[in-house]
Amino acid sequence: MLIGKIQDALNEQIKIEAESSQIYLAMASWAETEGLGGTAQFLYKHSDEERMHMLKLVQYVNERGGKALIPQLSQPAIGYKSLTNLFQTLLNHEIMVSGEINNLVDICLTEKDYTTHNFLQWYVAEQIEEEALARTIMDKLSMIGEDKGGLYLFDRDIDSILITANSENQ
Ligand code: FEO
Repeated sequence: MLIGKIQDALNEQIKIEAESSQIYLAMASWAETEGLGGTAQFLYKHSDEERMHMLKLVQYVNERGGKALIPQLSQPAIGYKSLTNLFQTLLNHEIMVSGEINNLVDICLTEKDYTTHNFLQWYVAEQIEEEALARTIMDKLSMIGEDKGGLYLFDRDIDSILITANSENQ
């Protein structure tokens, strides 16, 4: 059974993951309208992953005898100045999420909820990966700068950039 404090903290995380999914969905939609089809597909997938992160938490809270709260969400940003601006926003967002996961882990230790602590280790590992991917993308974009040909190739090859980064990070 979850104690109230842990349930509240997990419900807060459900909201953060749901907001992440919305933010990346809005990013995907913006990229699509800017003719950045590869980036859009990457972000649509990323949005789906965040929904899965949320769903895992919803089901965990309910399975442990708590009640998951499905939250109201705020309107994400509609547009971005550039791809660099978009991915910097994404990286900053993931750094914020990592901080929130760390706080959650801390609460579990203070409250001696080792089951939830164990459950959260998946999120700790996931955050390391997500931050590393976002940093890899930012490195590529800073190499490309304003070069239109480079940006074209970045958009075309974003999936393979990420597959390479993923295997390097494992
Ligand atoms: Fe589920 Fe990207 O944090």
